[in-house]
Amino acid sequence: MGELDGKVAVITGAASGMGAASARCFAAEGARVLIADFNEEAGAAVAAELGERGVFRRVDVSREDDVAGAVGEAVERWGRLDVMFNNAGFGGARGPIESISEDDYDITMDVLVKGVFFGIKHATPAMKAGGRGGSIINTASVAGIQAGEAPHLYSVAKAAVMHLTTSVALELGEHGIRVNAICPGVIATPLAVGRRSVREEQVERLREKLGRYQPIGRVGEPEDIAHAALYLASDRSGFVTGTHHVVDGGAAAGRAWSRQHAISTEAGPIKLYRPPGR
Ligand code: NAI
Repeated sequence: MGELDGKVAVITGAASGMGAASARCFAAEGARVLIADFNEEAGAAVAAELGERGVFRRVDVSREDDVAGAVGEAVERWGRLDVMFNNAGFGGARGPIESISEDDYDITMDVLVKGVFFGIKHATPAMKAGGRGGSIINTASVAGIQAGEAPHLYSVAKAAVMHLTTSVALELGEHGIRVNAICPGVIATPLAVGRRSVREEQVERLREKLGRYQPIGRVGEPEDIAHAALYLASDRSGFVTGTHHVVDGGAAAGRAWSRQHAISTEAGPIKLYRPPGR
């Protein structure tokens, strides 16, 4: 028995990284998965790995017709939609605020916020029609919680995704449709390296460089996010909605102990100043 036996999922951005890991994980747990991505070669390869449990469809999440088409194909092919994982993303516009053009702004927000909005919008009637509720999962980021983790517009977009998640969760709860966000920390994927196509040694360098800054002593792997998504997709999270599920090795909680400790002991041995008489 799989955790997702009989369920149908659409995952955007499933040609790579955490979306691809989630597609593999969901299929291994019994789901049928529509892989929605604009990277045709990589997306088709992930679908091929899943055999009859997977199908690829070319989708640009910033285009409403594409997202509606992905939901429509999943329902037509498999008769229902249980899980919509709005995960596609990119780094968006970078650099100082004065260097960002209106076009950069629009493209960043279209992919990172409008893409999630389209996914929620089109999954909702399909889930309502199924009459069995559903689970909508949106990939946000720890950059949506604290500034300074990522470029300006990326951080703003992810904060918007978090608020969209809670706002819509309140509307859809009475239809049995749960809406949650996952806020990943640093995860070893091409996006974190900053390039579309990366070599494994570049990802390995990222692991070495940033792992020691995480309280848990390593960067995240795509499977860490897939496991969180599996929980939110499955009936085990049936009482969970409107949440921001932080999966970041403790990074948003604060600085790793060995790094705090190094700073606090720089001034010499720790000395406790006692109140008079104690
Ligand atoms: P990735 O680069 O490995 O995968 C992203 C996928 O999204 C790619 O397959 C890409 O083709 C697809 N994509 C991009 N724009 C698209 C569009 N307009 N339409 C359809 N597909 C599109 O990156 P990763 O890390 O797996 O990213 C997944 C999500 O996680 C993104 O939303 C990202 O912002 C978020 N995230 C990533 C973190 C990290 O450290 N890697 C940290 C926090 C959040």
